[in-house]
Amino acid sequence: MITRKLGTHGPEVSILGLGCMGMSEFYGIGDEKESVATLERALELGITFWDTSDAYGPHTNEELLGRTLAGRRDKVFLATKFGIVRDPNDPMKRGISGRPEYVRQSVEGSLRRLKTDYIDLYYQHRVDRAVPIEETVGAMADLVKEGKVRHLGLSEASAESIRKAAKVHPITALQSEYSLWTRDPETTGTLAACRENGIALVAYSPLGRGFLTGAITRPEDFAEDDYRRVNPRFTGENFAKNLAIVEKVKKFAADKGCTPGQLALAWVIAKGGDIVPIPGTKRVKYLEENAGAVEVKLGPAEVAEIDAVFPPDSAVGDRYASNMMGSINA
Ligand SMILES: NC(=O)c1ccc[n+]([C@@H]2O[C@H](COP(=O)([O-])OP(=O)(O)OC[C@H]3O[C@@H](n4cnc5c(N)ncnc54)[C@H](OP(=O)(O)O)[C@@H]3O)[C@@H](O)[C@H]2O)c1
Repeated sequence: MITRKLGTHGPEVSILGLGCMGMSEFYGIGDEKESVATLERALELGITFWDTSDAYGPHTNEELLGRTLAGRRDKVFLATKFGIVRDPNDPMKRGISGRPEYVRQSVEGSLRRLKTDYIDLYYQHRVDRAVPIEETVGAMADLVKEGKVRHLGLSEASAESIRKAAKVHPITALQSEYSLWTRDPETTGTLAACRENGIALVAYSPLGRGFLTGAITRPEDFAEDDYRRVNPRFTGENFAKNLAIVEKVKKFAADKGCTPGQLALAWVIAKGGDIVPIPGTKRVKYLEENAGAVEVKLGPAEVAEIDAVFPPDSAVGDRYASNMMGSINA
């Protein structure tokens, strides 16, 4: 697998990461055996930049990775996150905490579940508007000094938060949604703030939560508890309207001789040497298909053509349900 440097402060990581979230929650019923097979295949393919969070499950996704990696922790560059506070009795309920004592408490839980004594990249999952980011990052920086964490990251932080955080401690990566139908980092100034500070952009949901692959044709096919049932882009008339985007992706992919999902990933890879997509899957066959995206090379003229066809506002509907939008770009 080709590698890419994770910003100025980070090491080389696989140019495609693996989003592990869907193995435990949000995108329909998972199967532990297939999830483990997917993780094993990722190791074989050299896809070793793995992404999880204490919020996924909650907790069970970290446990899955911890079990799978036991005895070979050093094979992956492991990223996890803290800051979204879940209530085990009410899966829909969410809080946010960036309090220093919460940071210290959270890292201990993640280390225990991941069965490791260090985390390669520790992200603040959502910025807590009630706590100055300097205080949160200060507590995260202490974890680096203690050897519990190697690199620091933020997720869905605003340009202002990124600049403030980078003054406290070098920030290795910003994780934000970035894809053919979500170009916010370009328009909100977060990508520019990253570039000023040598911070990599880790692009989450690069396949548009599966939509850009063309595999999703009817919202009725989602499992009852699938998060996409309440995501505005996948509901009501928006779903039908957004299918027009997929048709365009399919056309570009056919011309290029690849699958729509590979085209979507190749575009993210081509958008900058400081961007690393982390497509998510819980299936070996999707992982293998996605790995093929690294062979799809898009030149500047092709990228410009695709950019013009998918301008920043091409998707219909917010990318999160209204109760979650407020924590974005904080
Ligand atoms: N920081 C944050 O706030 C945040 C938010 C969301 C996600 N993330 C991270 O980013 C990772 C990736 O994002 P994501 O999982 O939301 O979205 P994604 O990568 O855009 O899409 C994942 C969905 O696409 C499907 N899929 C993957 N490859 C496919 C293929 N080749 N053909 C057809 N369908 C395919 C998966 O299906 P299966 O599930 O059936 O395999 C899954 O439903 C997550 O796993 C998580 O680690 C972070």
